Amino acid sequence: MLSSKIKNIIKKKNKKKIVCLTAYSKNVAEILDNHCDIVLVGDSLGSVLYNYDTTRKVSLGTMIEHSKSVKKGIKKSLMVVDMPYHTYRNPKEALKNAKKIIYETGCDAVKLEGGNKIIKIIKHLIKNKVQVMGHIGLLPQSQKGKFRFKGKNETEKNKIINDAKILSSSGVFSIVLECVEKSLAKQITKLIKVPTIGIGASVYCDGQVLVTDDLLGLNSTNFRFVKKYVNLRRIIDQSARLFKQEVIKKSFPKIKNSY
Ligand code: KIV
Repeated sequence: MLSSKIKNIIKKKNKKKIVCLTAYSKNVAEILDNHCDIVLVGDSLGSVLYNYDTTRKVSLGTMIEHSKSVKKGIKKSLMVVDMPYHTYRNPKEALKNAKKIIYETGCDAVKLEGGNKIIKIIKHLIKNKVQVMGHIGLLPQSQKGKFRFKGKNETEKNKIINDAKILSSSGVFSIVLECVEKSLAKQITKLIKVPTIGIGASVYCDGQVLVTDDLLGLNSTNFRFVKKYVNLRRIIDQSARLFKQEVIKKSFPKIKNSY
């Protein structure tokens, strides 16, 4: 049985774009909740918050603690949590960990990276009433070496199309397409019945997702697919500098800031 929140996401296909952003804490989630259909607790928190060189180092415990914080900021949007690396190596392990995530965080769904290769695992979760978001194209948990876009040659294209079809008919409620070439993203979006959510996968997807720290300009990363809507790094820098000046000059705290 699909929840009404999930049905609403699926209904948007071919009608309205789906808006998704990442959050790792309550304050950010609270703001995003006013604007997003989906808030994703992505394992990108490994690189964004912990400076890990790979998302493989993110643990289940870390994902759960951040998700508990995010949940406190969410009223309306659908909350999805990434299952970290090595927490879904077989159907039994995946179900145990997905249930733990859902039970401890109160999220609506989990996201797993992979297509045909993990289809038995995904089907087992769905059969056991776990709502699943798919993720194909570039898979950070499996990627070795430099990130590059997917769909360059026929073999790669056919594999991604096949993954999308298999996932869609398995019952996932949406699929993230990461760094997928635009004509391929367009073709997949037309072909499958569930919404595609793109990151670096063109305007043709049914929705878009970005890492919030990237669009806020908090990261020094410079991916082609990211648009920085504000330079929060600069704003924080200016605020800290001003605070320092005022503390030194003793113009802060004022009477109104004191008891
Ligand atoms: O981990 C993450 O934030 C993600 C998004 C980039 C889709 O998987």
